This record gives sequence, structure tokens and C-alpha cells, in this order.
Amino acid sequence: MTGNSGNGGAHSLLIRIKVALVPGPHNRRVEAVEVDTSMSTVSSQPKSEVNDEARVRVWDPLVRLCHWALAAAFFIAYFTEDGPLTLHVWAGYTAGVLVATRIVWGFVGTRHARFTDFLYGPREVWRYLFDLLIFRAKRYLGHSPAGGAMVLALLLGVAATVWSGLELYAVEENAGPLASSSAVPISTPRVTYGFAVFADEDNKESKAKNEEHESNDGGIWEEIHESLANFVLILVIVHIAGVLLASVVHRENLTRSMLTGYKRRE
Ligand code: HEM
Ligand code: HEM
Repeated sequence: MTGNSGNGGAHSLLIRIKVALVPGPHNRRVEAVEVDTSMSTVSSQPKSEVNDEARVRVWDPLVRLCHWALAAAFFIAYFTEDGPLTLHVWAGYTAGVLVATRIVWGFVGTRHARFTDFLYGPREVWRYLFDLLIFRAKRYLGHSPAGGAMVLALLLGVAATVWSGLELYAVEENAGPLASSSAVPISTPRVTYGFAVFADEDNKESKAKNEEHESNDGGIWEEIHESLANFVLILVIVHIAGVLLASVVHRENLTRSMLTGYKRRE
């Protein structure tokens, strides 16, 4: 019999009573009473957060929130490139903020959220991939070596896409945080005999320069932005295929774990 007193308190008091059956009037005798007064904080957590024998919490709420919000922001940005530009740009900004947050969390976050927990050398990544394909891959509680490499590729890929989007927004629309660095001011005063002259000719010249600058740079940035967005889309498809394959090989639902935060212990 195991009793767990002090549920909800700061410390836990675990009393384990061993009972043995012996011949006698009551047919049983208490053999041993073990009292564990360790300062465990497990019992002070809400019941839903307790790591029980079967499952363990792996993904903290920030990891899960960043993941699903990033997935939504990426798809919204990807499929609104033809639609309202404001929605596209704000979905892109959101993706950028989420990636930045996740990168910081990769240095200061909980155990399995840290880069040091899931970044491995190329040999381990290839070995894991090979083992996965022959259904013999070792199971990892956090990201596997291949999963970890994909996480890094996705984070850097989205960051590069957002950055190229900012450049494109600046040259095409002269808007966004990088706008000022790329445009030639339209009304540049010309100083003639000590007077600042805003000539119409100058404005036309600056406008023409801007248009030329935009069509040159805009074309390049549009190509870069589009290629990066499509590259990340391919990564996402491979990512989802990898998640499904690893779920089958290890007989666990990894997508559900990314929703609940829990994984099977063994
Ligand atoms: C329906 C689509 C998606 C599903 C089902 C999915 C599922 C998952 C799962 C199960 C994991 C954990 C993998 C593991 O156990 O090692 C994960 C991690 C991750 N996924 Fe996805 N994913 C999806 C879409 C995306 C998209 C669109 C992106 C980014 C553009 C993305 C980026 C990431 C990142 C960065 C991680 C690492 C999480 C972390 O440690 O913060 N995922 N995904
Ligand atoms: C994850 C984030 C993003 C994704 C997946 C994404 C994806 C795309 C795609 C696929 C296109 C179409 C390219 C083409 O066909 O030429 C596009 C266009 C564009 N994107 Fe993004 N983008 C993202 C973030 C951003 C950000 C943060 C900005 C600006 C701040 C931005 C600004 C633009 C602009 C100005 C265009 C051109 C729209 C047009 O000329 O119709 N994007 N984006």
C-alpha cells in the first residue's frame, strides 16, 4: 500500500507500508513502514503536470506555443503573397518575432528546449537518418539528431525569408523598418548661390533613380525572397514527413506530444 500525503503542500511525505500475510487472528502483519520525507516538490505541482511513471513532460509551453504559432504564421504568409499585403507582412513579422524568441529560448530555456540538448555532429545525424530508414533508430526523449538539424534549418530558413521580405518591402513599397536605407529622397535640395532650391527637375531625377533602383533591386530581392520561401516550404514538407516516419518507427504520436508537451517515458 502506498500513501501520498501532503498533496498540494510544499514538501512531500511518502509513507510506504509493507504488509505480509501470516497465520494468526487477523491473518496479516505489518512488516515495515518506510517514511520518505524528501523535499520533493512533485506533489506541489498541479496533478496534470506531474511526471508519472508512464510519461514525462518534454516540451514546455513556450516551445509549444512558438511551434504552432510559427506554423500558422508561416502558412498564412506563404498563402497571402497574392492577397492583402498588410496581412502578408504582419504574418511575416509574427514569424520573425517567434523565431527570435525561440532562438533566445534555445540558450536559456528548459532542458529539451536548449540547442545543447539537440544539436549533434553530422555523423550522428546521418547515422540516425540511416537507422530511421531501416526502422532501427534509437529513440530520443528530446529532438533526435536529424530532428534537431531540421529544427535549426527551419529556424534559420524562416529568419532568412523574413529578412529578404523586409528588404523587398523596402525597395518595392518603400515601407517597413529597412525603408529609409534603400530609397533616394525625392526632394533633395540643391544649394545654388547659398539658396536651397527644390527644383522640379531634381524631383523627377530622384524619382527616376528610385524607380530604376527599385526595378533592379526589387527584382533581385523578389527572386531571393521567393526562393527562400519555397526552400522553407520544402523543408516543412520533409519535416512533417520525418515526424510521421519517426512516429511510426517509435510507435508514438509526436504531433500529440507537441500539443500536450508529454512523451512516453520509455
Ligand atoms: C501541420 C504541420 C506540422 C506538424 C504536424 C509539425 C509537427 C512537429 C513535431 C511533432 C515536432 C517535434 C518533433 C520531435 O519530436 O523532435 C515539431 C518541431 C518543430 N517544428 Fe513542426 N510541425 C508542423 C509544421 C511546422 C512548420 C510550418 C514549421 C516552421 C515553418 C515548423 C517548425 C518546427 C520547429 C522549429 C520545431 C522545433 C520545436 C522546438 O524545439 O521549438 N513545424 N514539429
Ligand atoms: C515566413 C515569412 C514569409 C513568407 C513565407 C513569405 C512568402 C512570400 C512569397 C511566396 C511571396 C511571392 C514571391 C513572388 O512570387 O514573387 C512573397 C512576396 C512578398 N513578400 Fe513575403 N514572405 C514572408 C515574409 C515577409 C515579410 C516579413 C515581408 C515584409 C516585411 C514580406 C514582404 C513581401 C513583399 C513586399 C512581397 C511582394 C508582394 C507583391 O509584389 O505582390 N514577406 N512573400
